Amino acid sequence: MSYELIEVSTQEAVGIIRLDRPKAYNALCNALVAELGQALDVFEADEAIGAIVLTGGEKVFAAGADIGEMLDREHADLFLDDFPYVKSHGWERLNNCRKPTIAAVSGFALGGGCEMAMACDIILASDTAKFGQPEVKIGTMPGAGGTQRLVRAIGKAKAMELCLTGRMMDAEEAEQAGLVCRVVPVDALMEEALTMAATIASHSRPVVMQIREAVEQAFETGLQAGLLFERRAFQATFNLADRKEGMSAFAEKRKPVFRHR
Ligand code: HXC
Repeated sequence: MSYELIEVSTQEAVGIIRLDRPKAYNALCNALVAELGQALDVFEADEAIGAIVLTGGEKVFAAGADIGEMLDREHADLFLDDFPYVKSHGWERLNNCRKPTIAAVSGFALGGGCEMAMACDIILASDTAKFGQPEVKIGTMPGAGGTQRLVRAIGKAKAMELCLTGRMMDAEEAEQAGLVCRVVPVDALMEEALTMAATIASHSRPVVMQIREAVEQAFETGLQAGLLFERRAFQATFNLADRKEGMSAFAEKRKPVFRHR
């Protein structure tokens, strides 16, 4: 598979996707998002991959959807394509990814860029990261989760302020607000993201996938339904050889050897 607007690599059990359109500040044109979808397809299908890191450049994660590409489009165009879906299935693919995804964000994550980071399971930020939904400043609004995931992550007051003013929030504020799991020095960002991803990938794949689905349920359902989902998923891990291996290894004071079954 060859890519022009992203760079794809692996490090042991971790898949790495780097948005690579620096001249346009990694603006998320259809072609780039299509490549993202293809790369996610490959990693999802690859049994050797246990976690995925999505990153950008040092100065910019992504500055949003490509404004030039959207400029002359009309409502009917967007509606018929169900933009940002259909033409490139990268957004849907990321939203539906079953393997854990970590966004390693340095520099600007704005508009669709912030939404893409939020579509990942975890955001790890460098101390230079800046998050925002500035669409209001160009006469439009978030369209890929900005008004929904941001509220769930940081609450109504702050999300409302960011979406209505277009103000950017720095990494420290994003951590305090709960948008990012941690802030690390910019030079350490990839190393930290890869270490986190490798740790996740060292665990039993089906267990990891059950856990992330259960956490996702917290956003989708009420508490009782969520607790039931979690209990059933927990019980189902007792079908796995990896569950037996993990507990036996603990009892025998050794490292578990997971076979992802
Ligand atoms: C297309 C973009 C772009 C974008 C930056 N560029 N953002 N091109 N779409 N979203 C291009 C610029 O045109 C410029 O190209 C180059 O990248 C550098 O940008 P500058 O503005 O010169 O850099 P700087 O002064 O450092 O400012 C950085 C910035 C600013 C603050 C990130 O570029 C900016 O405000 N960008 C737009 C952010 C935004 O509004 N995003 C939301 C988009 S709408 P040239 O060729 O001139 O050098 C959206 C909706 C999502 O995301 C809906 C669902 C997917």
